[in-house]
Amino acid sequence: MKNIDTFDFTNKKVIVRVDFNVPLNEDFEITDDTRIRAAIPTIKKIMNSGGSVILMSHLGRPKNGPENKFSLKHLIPELSKKLNTNVLFADDCIGNQAIEKAKSLKPGQVLLLENLRFYKEETKGDEGFAHKLAQLADVYMNDAFGTAHRAHASTAIIAKYFPENKMFGYVMNNELININKVIREGRKPITAILGGAKVSGKIEIINNLIDKVDNILIGGGMMFTFIKALGGDVGNSLVEDDLIETAKEAMIKAEEQNVCFHIPTDAVIADKFDNNANHRFCNSHEIPDGWMGLDIGPESGQAFKDIIEGSETILWNGPMGVFEMENFAQGTIEVAYSIAEATKNGAFSLIGGGDSVAAINKFNLQNEVSYVSTGGGAMLEFIEGKTLPGVTAIIGE
Ligand code: 3PG
Ligand code: MG
Repeated sequence: MKNIDTFDFTNKKVIVRVDFNVPLNEDFEITDDTRIRAAIPTIKKIMNSGGSVILMSHLGRPKNGPENKFSLKHLIPELSKKLNTNVLFADDCIGNQAIEKAKSLKPGQVLLLENLRFYKEETKGDEGFAHKLAQLADVYMNDAFGTAHRAHASTAIIAKYFPENKMFGYVMNNELININKVIREGRKPITAILGGAKVSGKIEIINNLIDKVDNILIGGGMMFTFIKALGGDVGNSLVEDDLIETAKEAMIKAEEQNVCFHIPTDAVIADKFDNNANHRFCNSHEIPDGWMGLDIGPESGQAFKDIIEGSETILWNGPMGVFEMENFAQGTIEVAYSIAEATKNGAFSLIGGGDSVAAINKFNLQNEVSYVSTGGGAMLEFIEGKTLPGVTAIIGE
């Protein structure tokens, strides 16, 4: 494995896998540029060291080939502005145009390739596809931490075509260092705050966190699956009935291991999924039919605040409520400010996952926490102790 700081990039073409899977609004404007900002130092390092850069990424989950709303061309203006250069674009990530444009790149220039997932071969980890991408460059750099948990052509398979010239970029390096501050060097008490809409996809992580942390705080839509598992009435709240047993098991495991598993005692409920819906506070176990929980309530907000501010290490993934709607944002705001307060008092705080990062940015607290991860699923899997294909492709098993 080579090192970005010591490698000689002179006249080298470097293909960099970035994670530019950023949210866009209906006018295709970037609504959260965290992942682009994070990759800028890596790109500039190559540009300023005599190399040229070929950027590749996915955007969204296109199902059937090219689709305008998933085109990476929407990122060109912002990227050009941030890099202070005219970013070139190939509207197909492989094929003649990409080959010609890559070939004629001059030192200091940047070429962005169209969405890799316009080819099914990307997510399938197809070797032939990975080889075509590899042929565009002399060096492979993986800086896509957010996608490091995927064994895709561009995140893992491609590395084998660069046995001598593969390395991490700065995003990857920083993520691994900072996440290790939670899992290897985390000072107790350690608190994990988990939210977001669904339990599915998070239950394994919850189970694994029980082995590592002192407190688990549950918020967001997923809290109602736990509340239903405890026998509560959740009205029309989001519930994953098929996960009720699993939720019960997780709570039993937590109790056996003396991990405090905090389910909100109150909620903000509404009569429809709308900021202008009728809404009020309610015991989280007594939600009437026709009403749904859209945020944690004030009593839970206060309880969470006390736990967070008494913690030395904090991990946050997933909002506490529908924070995009003003009337259901309070729980997420309280958690975010409590994390900032704890950090000010010396705690180490790590925030990851698209929605919690968007929340931290929205409340302008990104500089008040210790580290904002560009990974959601990747961060959680790494914390679980899983090997990430994007990491092993570079450093080996
Ligand atoms: C993400 O945002 O989760 C990463 O970019 C990976 O995307 P994926 O979950 O669609 O693989
Ligand atoms: Mg994902």
